[in-house]
Amino acid sequence: MHIKITPDRIRIFALLLMIPFAVGAVAVLAKPSFQEVLAHGPIQAGHENVQCTDCHRRDDATLRQQIQANLHYALGNRENSVDFGYLPVTSSDCLDCHERPNERHPIYRFREPRFAEAVEVVNATSCMGCHTEHTDQRSFSDVRVCAACHGELNLVNDPVDVSHETLVREKQWQTCLGCHDFHGNHTYKAPKLMVEAVPVQDIEDYLAAGDSPYGTEKIYKAETSR
Ligand code: HEC
Ligand code: HEC
Ligand code: HEC
Ligand code: HEC
Ligand code: HEC
Repeated sequence: MHIKITPDRIRIFALLLMIPFAVGAVAVLAKPSFQEVLAHGPIQAGHENVQCTDCHRRDDATLRQQIQANLHYALGNRENSVDFGYLPVTSSDCLDCHERPNERHPIYRFREPRFAEAVEVVNATSCMGCHTEHTDQRSFSDVRVCAACHGELNLVNDPVDVSHETLVREKQWQTCLGCHDFHGNHTYKAPKLMVEAVPVQDIEDYLAAGDSPYGTEKIYKAETSR
């Protein structure tokens, strides 16, 4: 049979040829790994206006290499995409916005040899020892994390109705965050009565992504750009 080639037929043929490409494009967008490149999980409370590039600094790799690796990641050929032209995220990226003169637990302190054992339990030398991004966790540290360093607590005139010495002896480590925040940056005064301590469940909710039990007021607010 002879088919007459008309301009209309050519157009339909061209459209038919394009279908597999269109389907392919949709399939790539629907792949979870590709969506992760676009929006890699939930963002930290307060980071709504922080740019991806505030944490993911460009390596000096060329744009071409970056796009290529990115594409491989999107197509599932790579385990991760962090080396696709970006440097690993480090504490100094965080500190550019979060450095404070009143820091109660500055990370550099814990590089001292006397903290070697504690740091094996919790890597307090890095923000990423207790925090990350793209999860629904404000901090993934355990509520009992204080145990790593505060095994000897004898306050001269202990103001608390159950003394710190007793709390430590009875290993009541889950109570600490009920009266003290970790960084000391909330305008919150530690209560003196155990009944006024924040319940453990509220602390755990806060360490996930819940509201702050220490109020919303902070002594130092983070910078919004680097
Ligand atoms: C507050 C800092 C911060 C911001 C803002 C941020 N990220 Fe991340 N991102 C991280 C950290 C920390 C990791 C964990 C991997 C690491 O340590 O490098 C990570 C991991 C990733 C990964 C995966 C790497 C892997 O190995 O799985 C991708 C992709 C990514 N981020 C993309 C983005 C995109 C896109 C944005 C903007 C919507 C963004 N990030 C915003 C800190 C950040
Ligand atoms: C470009 C600046 C910027 C960078 C970089 C940045 N942050 Fe933030 N971050 C903010 C701001 C602004 C807020 C919200 C205001 C505040 O909490 O002071 C915030 C909020 C947070 C909060 C939650 C505060 C709360 O009370 O809920 C955590 C936790 C946090 N950042 C950790 C980090 C970590 C860890 C890094 C490094 C991986 C980092 N940030 C990098 C600016 C930044
Ligand atoms: C040993 C674990 C640990 C390390 C290390 C750590 N954090 Fe935290 N961080 C916590 C815990 C627990 C909380 C929740 C209690 C609180 O609000 O202080 C928290 C809360 C925060 C908050 C919200 C409250 C606030 O102070 O504004 C920010 C922001 C924050 N961390 C940033 C950082 C940055 C930046 C670093 C690195 C310089 C870091 N953290 C290192 C455990 C840690
Ligand atoms: C990696 C070790 C480490 C961890 C983990 C740790 N601390 Fe500390 N903390 C210290 C050191 C060191 C000091 C400073 C003590 C000094 O100066 O004598 C300190 C000081 C403090 C202070 C007194 C701050 C001031 O201004 O005098 C409080 C309160 C405190 N920590 C509470 C906590 C609580 C609550 C936790 C658990 C959420 C915790 N710490 C976890 C090492 C740690
Ligand atoms: C009922 C509330 C409460 C609980 C629970 C509590 N503290 Fe305290 N803590 C206080 C008060 C009040 C002070 C006095 C200084 C102040 O106001 O911060 C204090 C002081 C401290 C100090 C400073 C000591 C100094 O020399 O200045 C450290 C460190 C400390 N607490 C750690 C802890 C740890 C670790 C735990 C968990 C075992 C804990 N606290 C549990 C209320 C509490």
